[in-house]
Amino acid sequence: QPIAQFIAGLPKAELHVHLEGTLEAELKFELAARNKLDLPYADVAAMRASYVYHDLPSFLTIFYEGSEVLLHEADFRDLVYAYLKKVASQNVLYAEMFFDPQQHTDRGVPFAVVIEGLTQGRLEAERDFGIRSKLIMCFVRERSAQNAMAVFEMALPYKHLIVGLGLDSDEKDNPPAKFAEIFRRGREEGFRLTMHCDVDQLNTHEHIRQAIEVIGVERIDHGANLLDRPELIAAAREKGVFFTVCPFANEMMRPGENQSIARRMLDLGLRLTLNSDDPAYMEGKYINENMLMAHELADFGPEDFIAVSRNAFDAAWIDEDLRDELH
Ligand code: HPA
Ligand code: ZN
Repeated sequence: QPIAQFIAGLPKAELHVHLEGTLEAELKFELAARNKLDLPYADVAAMRASYVYHDLPSFLTIFYEGSEVLLHEADFRDLVYAYLKKVASQNVLYAEMFFDPQQHTDRGVPFAVVIEGLTQGRLEAERDFGIRSKLIMCFVRERSAQNAMAVFEMALPYKHLIVGLGLDSDEKDNPPAKFAEIFRRGREEGFRLTMHCDVDQLNTHEHIRQAIEVIGVERIDHGANLLDRPELIAAAREKGVFFTVCPFANEMMRPGENQSIARRMLDLGLRLTLNSDDPAYMEGKYINENMLMAHELADFGPEDFIAVSRNAFDAAWIDEDLRDELH
């Protein structure tokens, strides 16, 4: 298929991918064996067959359970290395990757183990495949602001290894304003800011408003509900907010509506990027396969993919020298 070849050849940046969501079933078995843990599945096929969900909470349950095999520095190293190796083969030149430290620290894994393992994997992948990358630390929004602040403080000694802060997990009743103080401090400490405003949630319009106007994010992850509100579209345009949209995830949250999300954003002049979210739990669809979905569902063609890819390099939290080199 010529369009698939075009997508494969396009130099890309990925800005919305959860590292824990890149943990493929094969690696999960390998880590479980290494860490002497039993998994309740006979084989990788049975494990993959268990990835059945219909909304964000049912997805998150499966996603969090999957992370429990990650215990040691080498596990986090192997996780990020495998993802970067995979997407380097898809001509991704640069990736900004989310990680959720609370998923690990709350299980007793020290913050240092997480960040040092991830950093080692990033550097080894750059050495071996030439791919550049950075980390974005996300707070798990259904946990308390105090819990988030505690992990924020754990991260401060490592802040040179983390480019930005994000907010993910269950959005319902957990508005951006709940974390206003942490994001204010984060900005002071030099972190760049983004937040999930997912497609299937109540109150998302107010959440998008808060993310843009109260928190002052540079990006919104997902964000499709903004399309319902002209005043939010205007605010996003005025502030130059970038959107990291994930076609497969949209399809899961709002079956059948996906077609219009990416297309309408692009046509409205919003700064759209296309990404994979949680590929290991989303039928193994990495960025190329998500872009192909945008072709199939929303009639994206080469010009659109070039625009999206340019947006992603513009949105990337890198210095201008690297931007010039990658663009
Ligand atoms: N939305 C919210 N939380 C998440 C996601 C997502 O797409 N992926 C992993 N955690
Ligand atoms: Zn996400």
